[in-house]
Amino acid sequence: MSNSTTIFENSWSVYQLLIEENYMHHAELRSLLDSSFKNFATKLEALRILDLGCGDGEPICSLLKPYNISSYIGLDLAQPALNIAAERFAFIGNGLHLYNANMESFEQYLDEPVNIIYSSFAIHHLQDEAKYALWTKIYNNLENEGRFIMIDVARENKASRSQYLSDYIDNCINTWNKLSKEGLDLINDHISNFDFPATQTFIKESLEEIGFTLIKHEHPDQFHHFWEWTK
Ligand SMILES: C[S@@+](CC[C@H](N)C(=O)[O-])C[C@H]1O[C@@H](n2cnc3c(N)ncnc32)[C@H](O)[C@@H]1O
Repeated sequence: MSNSTTIFENSWSVYQLLIEENYMHHAELRSLLDSSFKNFATKLEALRILDLGCGDGEPICSLLKPYNISSYIGLDLAQPALNIAAERFAFIGNGLHLYNANMESFEQYLDEPVNIIYSSFAIHHLQDEAKYALWTKIYNNLENEGRFIMIDVARENKASRSQYLSDYIDNCINTWNKLSKEGLDLINDHISNFDFPATQTFIKESLEEIGFTLIKHEHPDQFHHFWEWTK
């Protein structure tokens, strides 16, 4: 039976093509992440980073090289992606900890609060109640003044999930031209069964209620978003 990670376990190359062709705006999102690191991480003596749904380390990996990293803890359920991540993040040395584990159980893998919690295109697989529970745990495991950076898909407030899915899939069909018919079918199936993006208002109100303060929210298009929060 398939689940939200099946496509990433079996067809990581399809996801790599989306990144190469910038269909999900990884380039713009990477540049936002880079400026957040330049503003925040340069002030830290050492970075302790938790990455939820780290995949193969895109788009964060290359941005981390200039910093002193005491630990990078990445959790993902797709082993092929973790294998790539292990090679890419090898420069971190003993501070690298990659786990084939559910991001919802991340606190089992931390011995102390971290100063950056980051998650890119993973949290939308959870139902809203589970997202709220995860964000609460994120708050509780982040140092004061630390950063929570979330890159993810989100719905416009007026869009139901089915409207969102129909708009997103239309966008894939119309603009993701280098994708084969099989690739498109795989993505259509994955999105329709396993993507549950929250509305932008749900995300903002929930995180504020938990105690976060918003530093930055940008979105290169209507679907793909970048948020930076602090505690
Ligand atoms: C779209 S990929 C994103 C990978 C990478 N963070 C990026 O931005 O390119 C989503 C990743 O989330 C992982 N994932 C989905 N649900 C998960 C869960 N409950 N726990 C851990 N990883 C999960 C998938 O295996 C996949 O690698």
